[in-house]
Amino acid sequence: MSFVRRSGRMSDAQERAWSVLAPRYVIEVPRDRAATSILPDSAIDPRAVWGRDAALVVEIGSGQGHAIVHAATSRPDADFLAIEVFRAGLARTMLDADRAGARNLRLVEANAPEVLQHLLPAASVDELWIFFPDPWHKKKHTKRRLVAEGFAAIAAGVLKDGGMLRLATDWEDYALQMRDVMAAAPDFEATFEGEWAPRFDGRVLTAFERKGARVGRDIRDLSYRRVARS
Ligand SMILES: C[S@@+](CC[C@H](N)C(=O)[O-])C[C@H]1O[C@@H](n2cnc3c(N)ncnc32)[C@H](O)[C@@H]1O
Repeated sequence: MSFVRRSGRMSDAQERAWSVLAPRYVIEVPRDRAATSILPDSAIDPRAVWGRDAALVVEIGSGQGHAIVHAATSRPDADFLAIEVFRAGLARTMLDADRAGARNLRLVEANAPEVLQHLLPAASVDELWIFFPDPWHKKKHTKRRLVAEGFAAIAAGVLKDGGMLRLATDWEDYALQMRDVMAAAPDFEATFEGEWAPRFDGRVLTAFERKGARVGRDIRDLSYRRVARS
């Protein structure tokens, strides 16, 4: 799995936000070779990081952080981790989290599969969210998609027994691929009947989704439960 690093230029306000807020929000990680990599065997102890024992919700590709800041604010009983490689998006997320007074959210600037494999302990996550991952819709690029062969096993490793994987996309072709990948995954069972899952109500309704709905673009949700380890 590869991805394009969109560090983007940070505005002065974002640079300032980073230096003031990162010590509170960003988990510092030992890197392997690449800037957004994680050194193998770098597992954190969630209880130490969040300072308590609580359900852990992880969002991959949190972008500007709208979904996770909203979720962290409305569910103070749970802990949240945003994984993103887009620095300016992480700065935005911290600014909003700080404004909302969210103390149960942490961020990591890293390539998501490596976070699942090397940073989070096995069976430590209650929910894993991936909303609108990069579609890589050109034929020659589809192999860069995150939810592809091999991803389900990585997700299964980090989820607790009974943990949930929630997906959403506005690309039909990617939605079909996600469903195929998950149908072939022995560690997961679908939690919906019929073609697609109902819209996950923990996902904020973005302007993007509202506009898409107006022009008749379908957004598809999928949800899966990690089956108990034997
Ligand atoms: C299309 S955006 C969607 C952002 C957000 N989930 C939303 O719904 O607005 C996809 C995001 O995934 C991030 N991303 C892509 N590949 C990634 C990876 N391997 N690890 C972490 N983040 C990644 C991108 O930087 C981008 O911000």
